Amino acid sequence: MKQTKIRKVGILTGGGDCPGLNAVIRAVTKSAISNYGWEVFGIEDGYAGLIEKRGHELTQAHVSGILTIGGTILGTSNRADPFRVPVVKGKKVFYEDHSDRAIEHFRQWGLDVLVAVGGDGTLSIANKLCKKGIPVVGIPKTIDNDLMGTDYTFGFHTAVSICTEAIDRLHTTAAAHHRVMILEVMGRNAGWIALHSGSAGGADIILIPEFPYTMEAVCKTVKKRAQHGKKFSLIVVAEGAKERGGKVIEKKRDLKNPYPVKLGGVGKYLEEQIEKCTGLETRSASLGHIQRGGSPTPPDRNLGTLFGTYAVELIHHQKWGQMVCTQGSSVRSIPIERAVNKLKTVTPDDPLVRASEAVSISFGR
Ligand code: F6P
Repeated sequence: MKQTKIRKVGILTGGGDCPGLNAVIRAVTKSAISNYGWEVFGIEDGYAGLIEKRGHELTQAHVSGILTIGGTILGTSNRADPFRVPVVKGKKVFYEDHSDRAIEHFRQWGLDVLVAVGGDGTLSIANKLCKKGIPVVGIPKTIDNDLMGTDYTFGFHTAVSICTEAIDRLHTTAAAHHRVMILEVMGRNAGWIALHSGSAGGADIILIPEFPYTMEAVCKTVKKRAQHGKKFSLIVVAEGAKERGGKVIEKKRDLKNPYPVKLGGVGKYLEEQIEKCTGLETRSASLGHIQRGGSPTPPDRNLGTLFGTYAVELIHHQKWGQMVCTQGSSVRSIPIERAVNKLKTVTPDDPLVRASEAVSISFGR
């Protein structure tokens, strides 16, 4: 791609929201304006704004005071994809490629680069736009922390903190009533939130999508604890965890969503099964979108600031098609291509899995 003089930077946030998005928007805007004198333009509701031509200028005033606020001031969409726009004809829905229209809007706004902040879906689309000639820089986001190529994504620390606090609260009520308490957390394909919060909250059993569980192993752990005088047990389960040979538990299907299967209910399922096989009183709670809302923790605010300012440096050096990432203690970048269409999942040799097993946490295997 040829070198261009940068004057105006476009930014969008796509996919499910996550604490720290506003920290990124603030960092990109402040750093682009004060260090390089570029204009910044916010595209509304992710790729929906690019397809429908909705956006507005971002000034220092627009981003003042947003560092600590959850959500995204630009709005987001986890449905919009310029390469796959649903068009209703009669009673049928067809999908059309409207990427040329989206690119036309990009040019009409006078943008020189697109900063795409999002997870696997948003960044895959950014990569396709890049291949069509749009200068793109990616910033990874997901509470699930399952994006390849980066050790951490912002939002993850906040979600883990919220889940850990919930486990701490369930701990005291479990102990008071001598019950088995189950907490269902997010994590469609990867159990990072369940693993990190379960370990931090001192759970007795952690169930994650990567390690299919058996009811036999789960109930054995609960019964063994009871036999040793431990009158309660705490279980953390990721929404995508499944029984060996079984399937994930679906809450509903949303066919307009690129991820149509909405998970939920595994906590309730376990509640019934554990009560049946152990005879112990069991209750479950599900945190749902509480994990994604509210103020980001200090590490997530800082990661957002690091990612946003690093993205501006990538723009300055015209490193198109790159995604900001953390590797060890440094912030760097890799080609977006290397991060998308695959997931970073928990492996049996992960240090926290090993440490959890060493302190007798069961993974229900
Ligand atoms: O990708 C993040 C995530 O939080 C998943 O763990 C969860 O399955 C999904 O988003 C739910 O998203 P929504 O209900 O907003 O479509």
